[in-house]
Amino acid sequence: MSRMLKYTVGFEDILLSLKELGIKQGDVLLVHSSLSSFGYVRCGADTVINALLEVVGQEGTVLVPTLTGKNTDGPQNPPIFNVRETPCWTGRIPTEFMKRRQSRRSLHPTHSVSGIGPLVPFLINGHENSTTPCGKASPYYRLAEKSGYILLVGVDQESNTTIHTAEELAKVPYHMQREPTDAIISDYEGNKIIKHLYLHRWGVPRKFQRIDGELEKLGIMCKGKCGRSTLRLINSMQMIDWLVDILHNDPWYLCLNSFNVSEKIGMHS
Ligand SMILES: CC(C)(COP(=O)(O)OP(=O)(O)OC[C@H]1O[C@@H](n2cnc3c(N)ncnc32)[C@H](O)[C@@H]1OP(=O)(O)O)[C@@H](O)C(=O)NCCC(=O)NCCS
Repeated sequence: MSRMLKYTVGFEDILLSLKELGIKQGDVLLVHSSLSSFGYVRCGADTVINALLEVVGQEGTVLVPTLTGKNTDGPQNPPIFNVRETPCWTGRIPTEFMKRRQSRRSLHPTHSVSGIGPLVPFLINGHENSTTPCGKASPYYRLAEKSGYILLVGVDQESNTTIHTAEELAKVPYHMQREPTDAIISDYEGNKIIKHLYLHRWGVPRKFQRIDGELEKLGIMCKGKCGRSTLRLINSMQMIDWLVDILHNDPWYLCLNSFNVSEKIGMHS
C-alpha cells in the first residue's frame, strides 16, 4: 500500500478519533492544527472543520486561532487589523474556518480567534479591550473558565497559545513589550478603532515542548491518533493553574536560554 493510501482519512475517521479522545457534545474547544499532519484528508480542511463541529454538536463551541501578529509590530509600527480581511498565519484550517458564514472573529489586532457555537459571544467579545493578548479578558482564558479544552492536531506545544496566558498571569519578565502600542482595528461594520495595548514581544526563544510529558503524566492531557496525525487534548484551566505555579517559582522555566534572553531584553536575571 502506498504511503498516501495508508494515510488517507475522511470525515468518519476524524470524527471517530475525536470521540475516542473523549470529546463530546457540548464541549468547548480551541483547535491548533496542521492539515498535512493527517496524510491525505478527503475534501481537505472542510472535512476537518465539519468533524470538529459535529463532535461538539449544536451545544458545543469551536474556536481556532487566527493570529496576525508580526515581529515588526510595536509602538513605531502599529499593527493594522481588519477583521474581515487580514489573513491569519495559523494554517489552512483556521483560514477556511473563518470564511464560514456562521463564524465570528475577535477584534484583537495580533491574537484574534474565530469561533462557531453558542459560547462565541462570551468568549470573543471585547478581546480588543484586553490590554494583553492572552490575559483574563481574552478568549484564551475565558475558554478555560468554561472548562474548555485545547486540541492540538498534528502540532506540538510550540503552537499552544494558551501557554502565553500562563506567562501573562504569572507576569514573567520577557513576554510583553514594555511600551504600549496604539493598534488600528477595523470592525465588522467598517469602523476604525484605536486601542492602546501591550503587544507580544516576538523573538524570545521558548521551549514549550518541555511541558508535554508533564501534562500527560499529570492527566491534564491525553493523546490520540488520526491517520498520521497525533492529537493532544488538554484541559485548559488545569494546564494554566499548574503552569502559573511553576512560573511563580521559576519565571524562566519556558525560556530556551534565560541568560541570553535577559541580556537581549536589557535586564539582569
Ligand atoms: C504552520 C502550520 C500551519 C503548517 O502546517 P501544514 O500542515 O503544513 O499547513 P496547513 O495546515 O496550512 O495545511 C496546508 C497544507 O496541507 C497540505 N494539504 C493540502 N491539501 C491537503 C489534503 N487534502 N490533505 C492533507 N494535506 C493537504 C499541503 O501541504 C498544504 O500546503 P500548501 O498549501 O503549501 O500546499 C502548522 O505547522 C502549525 O504551526 N499550526 C499551528 C499554528 C498555530 O496555531 N500557532 C499558534 C502560535 S502561538
